[in-house]
Amino acid sequence: MNAAAFLRCIRPACHATFDLTAPIFACGRCGSLLDVAYDWDRLSVPASLSFFQERHATRNEPIDFSGVWRFREILPFAPPSDLVTVGEGQTLLQAPDIRRLDLPLKPGHLHFQYEGLNPSGSFKDNGMAAAFTMARILGRRRVGCASTGNTSASLAMYASLTQLNDGTPMRGIVFIGSGKIAHGKLSQALDFGALTLQIDGDFDACLKRIREAADRLNLYLMNSVNPFRLEGQKTIMYRVLENLDWGPPDWIVVPGGNLGNASAFGKAFIELHALGLIRRIPRLAVINASGANTLHELVNNRGLRWSNGAWDDAIIAGHRNERATAGLRAQTVASAIEIADPVNLPKALRSLDAMNGLVTDVTDGAILDEKARIGRTGLGCEPASAASLAGLRKLLVNGQIANDARVVCILTGHALKDPDATVRYHMNAEPSPPRESSAPRAQFANNPIRVADDLDAICRVIEQQDIAR
Ligand code: F0G
Repeated sequence: MNAAAFLRCIRPACHATFDLTAPIFACGRCGSLLDVAYDWDRLSVPASLSFFQERHATRNEPIDFSGVWRFREILPFAPPSDLVTVGEGQTLLQAPDIRRLDLPLKPGHLHFQYEGLNPSGSFKDNGMAAAFTMARILGRRRVGCASTGNTSASLAMYASLTQLNDGTPMRGIVFIGSGKIAHGKLSQALDFGALTLQIDGDFDACLKRIREAADRLNLYLMNSVNPFRLEGQKTIMYRVLENLDWGPPDWIVVPGGNLGNASAFGKAFIELHALGLIRRIPRLAVINASGANTLHELVNNRGLRWSNGAWDDAIIAGHRNERATAGLRAQTVASAIEIADPVNLPKALRSLDAMNGLVTDVTDGAILDEKARIGRTGLGCEPASAASLAGLRKLLVNGQIANDARVVCILTGHALKDPDATVRYHMNAEPSPPRESSAPRAQFANNPIRVADDLDAICRVIEQQDIAR
């Protein structure tokens, strides 16, 4: 355990601190979220980020190979001997062919951070490596989460691969709602052997319940309200910087669900800047699905701001009550981000403030079309991830992002996570819920073509299709 690391309330007016091992996820004084904080003066931080590149030379060492732990000096809460890794974070910053995306952005200025390449197929592994490290340090055998799918897949994988220091196997427990869960993700939780509970309720209800169960059952909660998760997710930004030769882009564009990534990215840049490791902080765009757009509604329509840690809880509570009274639930084809009550909301407000960020929302129709476009660049992703490109297009068209900006979109999960959504789209089935009437249906549908088992007919179709493209 690192004596220079501790838990700290995110509200500057409170800033109560707690021991790193305190079994809490909220400030014991004011109830706000907690950060993992560091007394950097007592730590040895590299003088320059290029220090981390040297770890590529020693990648046969698992913690130098890990895309999370090779940055361990800037998430220094645990000693190297305690770090849990399964080889997460071998992800790439890809430069897609912008012509295939028909995007009004200067060629070469768009990158996709392809987090679908993680061992469980989503960015969650970055956070789980860190949270499992802490679970093991704390000797917690039962680990659990509520999930729209990817957190549970990642948790189930790490739980099966990790043992406590005395050799006891860990027990993964996942709560999934009765709403949508993509089969790719559900299959992982089942296959990795997690105890999987399907609760009669949506994600928001599941998260509330598992927090209660965690208190009662000595279960270590692995949702992103666990601040150690976010320490791991900071490294997504470190890898983006590394791939850009440590020069920050102008914009980071990320889908927003429970707002763990948005929170972690802001914390990463606030710290790097304070440590003098970067001179400029990129801007942040968080993209909600329009059927799950709490952040968009609160920030753009109700004026909610970080306000130096004095954010207005009444605005959040008012919106929550209105939704409850109207019986409104989150609903989007991007099931991963079908969340109405994001647990990291205040941290995301802090990131928006520090990164001069903005929020927007995009329709299900736009998400599915952009997902198909991304597929055509050869980089598959699941619907929620495509919200980033849908948001970027919207922000470029309305002038909020300039056409010569350098932009990184985060592709959070692999295409194989939700093959049903892909097949439905391409086979021209109606997405759920229906598209806006103004939006064309399945613009990029790639329907299979039925052909008789006849060579002439087959060749004719291939030639016709080549001309049609
Ligand atoms: N993209 C994917 C593929 C996700 O699985 C999630 C969240 C997000 C984006 C949103 O990220 O919560 O950091 O804003 N999935 C969670 C889960 C909620 O349970 O798997 P966030």
